Amino acid sequence: MSPPPPAPNGPLLTLSGVSKSYNGDTPAVADVSLSIERGSFVSLVGPSGCGKSTLLRLIAGLLQPSHGTLDWEDGERPNDLGFVFQDATLLPWASAFDNVYLPLKLKGLSRDDADRRVKDALARVGLADASDKLPRELSGGMRMRVSIARALVTEPPVLLMDEPFAALDEFTREKLDDDLLTLWRDLGWTVIFVTHSVYESVYLSERILVMSSGSHGSGGPGQIADDVRIDAPYPRGLPFRQSSAYFDHCKGVSTALRDGDA
Ligand SMILES: Nc1ncnc2c1ncn2[C@@H]1O[C@H](COP(=O)(O)OP(=O)(O)O)[C@@H](O)[C@H]1O
Ligand SMILES: [Mg+2]
Repeated sequence: MSPPPPAPNGPLLTLSGVSKSYNGDTPAVADVSLSIERGSFVSLVGPSGCGKSTLLRLIAGLLQPSHGTLDWEDGERPNDLGFVFQDATLLPWASAFDNVYLPLKLKGLSRDDADRRVKDALARVGLADASDKLPRELSGGMRMRVSIARALVTEPPVLLMDEPFAALDEFTREKLDDDLLTLWRDLGWTVIFVTHSVYESVYLSERILVMSSGSHGSGGPGQIADDVRIDAPYPRGLPFRQSSAYFDHCKGVSTALRDGDA
């Protein structure tokens, strides 16, 4: 018998028994084991302080685990991980173009050589006409779009997002949620998305890792309390946002959050 074909979407990343303590204190996250499938859209949801950012930074390689291992499919962490933070963190004196150009500049590309890619990235986030604008001339939503363009200009295989839309009004946030899903589907990324919004996580994700601050209330180490699949098809759009399936999923994740912190 011939061997079974390889799974098209094997795990991109596997965490085994990962813990992280800052300065030897109580661990911020403890004994986290999970796998992330290549090409998937996964959210980390949990209350403030439960270790979401810590876990994302461990995945990004910005922090080293105190215990446990992170194993990448190719043996090492991809060079080009895209990282988007809650604050757009743009250079205030540089135009939208120059902010998006920055990662390519750091790779040694001249402005001329980078021109097409920077313009494509700005166009992808709907900012083709704002290339010369300074951050202070852009709305909060537009600044976040520049930040996303900057993350995608290097064509990263993995995009890590830490509450990227939390500071935006609801309307802008829903628009950016849709744009993000379009980019994810077009570009074949793996997205790991941190949010404290149950509604946003259900709308976006194929899978939600519900985090808690351990048992008996907050203050304990962050752990994965539940692993929830959201099996609704894409594109999701308004019909999904207004469907009973959506509310059922939201209820399920809210319950998992409460149980996790009970
Ligand atoms: N640089 C740091 N030094 C010391 N403690 C930290 C640091 N960053 C986070 N923590 C602590 O680790 C815990 C988890 O924080 P964090 O990962 O930021 O949670 P979340 O993103 O879910 O709000 C919190 O108790 C926080 O105070
Ligand atoms: Mg955080």
